[in-house]
Amino acid sequence: MAKIGLFYGSTTGNTVKAAELIRNEFGADMVDMVDVGGKSADELKKYDTLILGTSTWHWGGLQDEWALFEDNLTGDTLEGKNVAFFGLGDQKRYPDHFADGMGLLYEKVKAFGVKVVGMCPKRDYKFEASAAELGDRLVGLALDEDNEPQKTAERINKWVRQLKKELGVE
Ligand SMILES: Cc1cc2nc3c(=O)[nH]c(=O)nc-3n(C[C@H](O)[C@H](O)[C@H](O)COP(=O)(O)O)c2cc1C
Repeated sequence: MAKIGLFYGSTTGNTVKAAELIRNEFGADMVDMVDVGGKSADELKKYDTLILGTSTWHWGGLQDEWALFEDNLTGDTLEGKNVAFFGLGDQKRYPDHFADGMGLLYEKVKAFGVKVVGMCPKRDYKFEASAAELGDRLVGLALDEDNEPQKTAERINKWVRQLKKELGVE
C-alpha cells in the first residue's frame, strides 16, 4: 500500500508522542510523519490516506501550528482521499471543549469529498461537550495524556487495528 501521511502539530510534545505510537503500530515503513509547522499544501498532495493529529488549546482552539496550516485543507488538496483524525485533550480541565481540535479539522474537511475513517465511540470518555462529537461517536481517536496516559497505548493499538480494517490494509 502507498504510504500514509500522518500530519501533526504539537506544543508540549504529547501529540508527537502519540503520532510515533500510531506510526509504530502501523509499521514505521508505512507512515511518513509530517510536522505541519512551516509546511505547504504540496505535502498533503503526496498521500492518498491522511491521518491528521492535533491537540486542543485556548479553550476550544486548534494547536498553534495547525491554526497556521489549516487553510491548506482544501477540496483541491483533499478530494478522494481517506482521512482519519486523532486529538489530544484534557477531559477534566476542559470538559466543555474536550479534544475540540479534531472536530475543527473534521468540520474543515468534511465537505471536500473525503472518506472519513477511524471514528470512535465516545462512551470511553467523561466530558460535557466536544466539537468532535457526532451523535454517540467522536470523529476520531481522542487521547488524554493529562488524565489517562495509561490508556493511550491500548487506545492506539485498537484504533490502528480498526483503521487497517477500514482501509483494507493487511
Ligand atoms: C492553556 C491550555 C488550554 C487548553 N485547552 C484545551 C481545550 O480547550 N480542550 C482540551 O481538550 N484540552 C485543552 N488543553 C490540554 C491540551 O490539549 C493537552 O495537554 C494536550 O495533551 C497537549 O498536547 P501537545 O503537547 O501535543 O500540544 C489545554 C491546555 C492548556 C495548557
